[in-house]
Amino acid sequence: MLPSADQNEILRRRTFAIISHPDAGKTTLTEKLLLYGGAIHVAGAVKSNKIRKTATSDWMEIEKQRGISVATSVMGFDYDGYHINILDTPGHQDFAEDTFRTLTAVDSAIVVIDSAKGVETQTRRLMEVCRMRKTPVMVFMNKMDREGKDPFDLMDEAEKELGIHCTPVTWANGQGLKFESVFALNNRPAELSEKLQEDLEMIDGVYPEFDREAYLRGDLAPVFFGSAYKTIGVQELLNFFVENAPSPRPVMAEEREVEPMEDKFTAFCFKIHANMDPNHRSCIAFFKICSGKFLRNTYYYHVRKDQQMRFAAPTCFMAQKKETVDEAFAGDIVGLPDTGNFKIGDTLTAGEHLHFKGLPSFSPEMFKYIDNADPMKQKQLEKGINQLMDEGVAQLFVSQLNGRKIIGTVGQLQFEVIQYRLEHEYQAKCRWTPLQMYKACWIESDDAAELDMFKKRKAQYMATDKEGRDVFMADSAYVLSMAQQDYKHITFHFTSEF
Ligand code: G4P
Repeated sequence: MLPSADQNEILRRRTFAIISHPDAGKTTLTEKLLLYGGAIHVAGAVKSNKIRKTATSDWMEIEKQRGISVATSVMGFDYDGYHINILDTPGHQDFAEDTFRTLTAVDSAIVVIDSAKGVETQTRRLMEVCRMRKTPVMVFMNKMDREGKDPFDLMDEAEKELGIHCTPVTWANGQGLKFESVFALNNRPAELSEKLQEDLEMIDGVYPEFDREAYLRGDLAPVFFGSAYKTIGVQELLNFFVENAPSPRPVMAEEREVEPMEDKFTAFCFKIHANMDPNHRSCIAFFKICSGKFLRNTYYYHVRKDQQMRFAAPTCFMAQKKETVDEAFAGDIVGLPDTGNFKIGDTLTAGEHLHFKGLPSFSPEMFKYIDNADPMKQKQLEKGINQLMDEGVAQLFVSQLNGRKIIGTVGQLQFEVIQYRLEHEYQAKCRWTPLQMYKACWIESDDAAELDMFKKRKAQYMATDKEGRDVFMADSAYVLSMAQQDYKHITFHFTSEF
């Protein structure tokens, strides 16, 4: 076990992500939280990681903005004796995979909902990941200063659409132009309007009291109302959050469960951020510390490479500044400068053979064959593709029929990013051939004969992922559902970890 001073450091850490549909108010809320933490002093200081809608066709601009966003990838600050790490998630849906992976590194999440729009698609998808991982979530109903949906309807919608029980912790005094303040339901104002009186009777009749255990299990979400823009209801959220949100939680490795208070350091890589400047082809590998304490210039064990490594310039993120740090604790994120040593999912330890789980790949939505367009640069192309895949830019499959490489992404943008980066960082040229494909499914069965038969019959649709696993590339929803009907002993998974 760690010395108690170090244990206290870990206990006061709160590492979380804010998730929302673009425009719901994530950036505004983040900024207000940083203001309370004294990490920034004026509103407007947070450079939005949001990719502007007008820029969707101009991905160079997007990459530039992503470059800027390294600084806001993790925002650490102290508040009321707690150390808070906010992990930023890209809003653009073409980078949804990045967001999914970031969610593997948080101990809890805050879901921001635009009270005029209710629960939107992106929020629903991200919440699925939280549910899968049993991540505790709190809900912030934002923009109450606008005419929006009725608060009770919003509560119903959140329960139904997010698939989680909800209970309000604060309530709005008015809405739209009449919105003035919020109050805690366990500390009600003495004077109540008739409408509020009715609301409160209804709340008392319908909603359970907040139960922290249920919240920590991921079964119950406390709900807050407010306006990030007008800074109403934000401090109530923040105070409740630091008191109730979990400190770093145990993390499952293939070999065993790792407790944050163990004295030996362990961490896994959930994100690699490439530098867009071709003259400095270094990346930052982001590691979430799962246990113990990280020290600068100390040898750690890179499990996949079976190699000891030490880091002279690890960075942590305070507010918006990246700073070299001498030590960091379980719950923290350290950024390690990298020149191609790390892959997403890599584990660092103090010597133990550990492999952290929970970094699944999700079935991509778009597929293209990638071919070499410059015969002199075959090697460069191979290297570039491999490194970009290690960074998690997209997924690579190899057709078992003809050995051709297939790149799968969640959006059109990634293809453009890959092509550009191959040209500029690896001097390689590629050519795309679109593939009509519906889903990539990882297949599993305890009936070896049936699995074998399936693979033979579907040989032209079979591919291998980068870990060597069999993947069925279904070209339509119909083909997939027929396969599911015909092969009852085969399970078709849409994520690579099951
Ligand atoms: P995002 O990061 O989730 O994409 O959203 P962001 O905070 O950028 O907010 C999106 C828009 O919604 C911004 O307006 C922001 O000012 C506004 N907004 C955020 N919170 C509230 C709120 O509580 N009430 C109201 N009325 N508006 C809110 P914008 O016009 O797109 O940008 P800006 O010019 O105001 O920066």
